[in-house]
Amino acid sequence: MLIKSPNPLHARESEVTDRDTWLSRRRFLGKAARGAGLALAASSGGAGALLAGCEPAAVTARHSEGQLRLGDIEANKRYLLPDTITEKAAATTYNNFYEMGVLKSDPRENAHLLKTTPWSVRVHGLVDKPANYQLEDFIAPQQLEERIYRLRCVEAWSMVIPWVGFPMADLIGRAQPTSKARFVKFTTLLDPSMLPGQRTPVLDWPYVEALELKEALHPLTLLTVGMYGEILPNQNGAPLRLVVPWKYGYKSIKSIVDIEFTDRRPVPSWTRAAPNEYPFYSNVNPSVNHPRWSQARERRIINIPRGLDAIGALLEPKIETLMFNGYPEVAELYRGMDMTRLS
Ligand code: MTE
Repeated sequence: MLIKSPNPLHARESEVTDRDTWLSRRRFLGKAARGAGLALAASSGGAGALLAGCEPAAVTARHSEGQLRLGDIEANKRYLLPDTITEKAAATTYNNFYEMGVLKSDPRENAHLLKTTPWSVRVHGLVDKPANYQLEDFIAPQQLEERIYRLRCVEAWSMVIPWVGFPMADLIGRAQPTSKARFVKFTTLLDPSMLPGQRTPVLDWPYVEALELKEALHPLTLLTVGMYGEILPNQNGAPLRLVVPWKYGYKSIKSIVDIEFTDRRPVPSWTRAAPNEYPFYSNVNPSVNHPRWSQARERRIINIPRGLDAIGALLEPKIETLMFNGYPEVAELYRGMDMTRLS
């Protein structure tokens, strides 16, 4: 990233909470989405969509205006973590979303400019079933679930976030890529009237990211529509965001409007801007440093810092960064490949 100075946030050393305590804080909810009659439809209020599941049980998420609602979402227990979950207030106020500005506080401040209804998503390229979906049709067939993932930014901070979404592999199953497809390219909305950062050529807009098809098919790769049991806030990439937890955060592209299957390796925006700093694969790897800073450790952000804690620039990253961000099961994707080139 174009960081001129280190981040102002502080990490806590008390990173690990005991699993039972954590579990008792969580509520495991009834079946979501499809089975429970999920419907995602434009709201009559015009400022949002209604994502309505079965009758609210333990948690029903609502948009602040009350126009968005996630139904009951079941946590996928396979992806529970012992880590302390980052507070929502921190995850929604300390953001990277350059289309909304380059400061960490800009996305929150400019979030209201982005209108996510109506929203369409084009799925095309080397697929048997291309389609131009309205968001509600895109999501309706999917079984939503909650997954808690670590998010490791290349800037050496990290968070732990409960996402709501569905496996990218499910969408790939719907799109039916042809045998020639090898990569999946994702593109963010291009609209400077709603994304004022696009009026400045910080990056070559629109923001583009890409995965190898086999990476996109990996069960960890998630298309998300929510976090913390609620519809994604705009600053976090509403209404549709990719999350690839073993890669640096910039691969997790926000506010997606286009998904293309291709046989040619796309050039992601950050790779185009600085290929030696942000290579295509960008797998989290503590032993491969960014040219300008170490990737061995990270500052875990749990809550909004106060007082001196806010001067994160002066604080050393405290936690060891884990290979593949602690998701070793993806190593099989890269067997035989030179890991120092893949980071
Ligand atoms: N997606 C778009 N379209 N634009 C961006 O600037 N920033 C990336 C990623 N996705 C970015 C983006 C970076 S660098 C990170 S670390 C994460 O979003 C940050 O996600 P968060 O703000 O939800 O923590």
